[in-house]
Amino acid sequence: MSNPSGQPLYRRVLLKLSGEALKGDAACGIDPGLIKRIAEEVRDLIQVRVEVAMVIGGGNLFRGSNLAAAGVDRVTADQMGMLATLINALALQDALERLGMNARVMSAITINEICEDYIRRRAIRHLEKGRVVIFAAGTGNPFFTTDSAASLRAVEINADLLIKATKVDGVYSADPRHFENAMRYDHLNYDEVLQSKLGVMDATAVVLCRDNNMPLRVLDMTKPGALMRAVMGEDEGTLVSSKPLAEKAND
Ligand code: GTP
Repeated sequence: MSNPSGQPLYRRVLLKLSGEALKGDAACGIDPGLIKRIAEEVRDLIQVRVEVAMVIGGGNLFRGSNLAAAGVDRVTADQMGMLATLINALALQDALERLGMNARVMSAITINEICEDYIRRRAIRHLEKGRVVIFAAGTGNPFFTTDSAASLRAVEINADLLIKATKVDGVYSADPRHFENAMRYDHLNYDEVLQSKLGVMDATAVVLCRDNNMPLRVLDMTKPGALMRAVMGEDEGTLVSSKPLAEKAND
């Protein structure tokens, strides 16, 4: 799909970044150069008047499931993970503001001394005013991933597109780092993702998108300009949507 008008195809997007995206080659933590580059890509979208909401994971600091595997109580481990997403969200807010954007962190858990609570109508107001809204602390519940938080918030704020930024340029039939014959899909429907267990996002997140007809684009955030191309409606990475199988056969 291309967009001949030269205008963004999507008015409001939710960008999901993994916490890992912030650490670069380091074992953990936040790479200041990387976070600045991400902020610059977001600025490009703001400059063409796209409303940008973000969800960030916390895997560069703590991953609840790993802590649980090491014996930490699962609920406590997930709460530690939620706090990790908040740390990343604050770093992102800072990086965006240093580039002259207005940004607001909104947390799913109450932590008023540090940021605003998540209030849906307020989040939408911030977006309408051109502020980048960063949703922190996942859904505020244990046992839910930040991918599920991204789907949930995208649906709640009526985003036109959910973008999942990874280190791989789309969804492949097998892990392209290990299988050189792995094939990249341009387009999948939700059920194909669920049935083939392609590992795009967890099932809860995909089902939320499917049931609410939320298009999802998976792309490589390390590829310069990928985000902008996706927002312009270009075929960047893989699109997951409710494209009917008949239409797919005509591709
Ligand atoms: P408008 O009302 O649209 O102008 O939004 P605004 O966010 O600029 O105004 P508001 O008075 O709501 O907030 C002013 C500043 O306080 C902003 O930087 C907010 O992010 C921040 N702020 C608002 N509510 C909270 C809160 O509950 N906790 C914390 N820590 N900061 C808050």
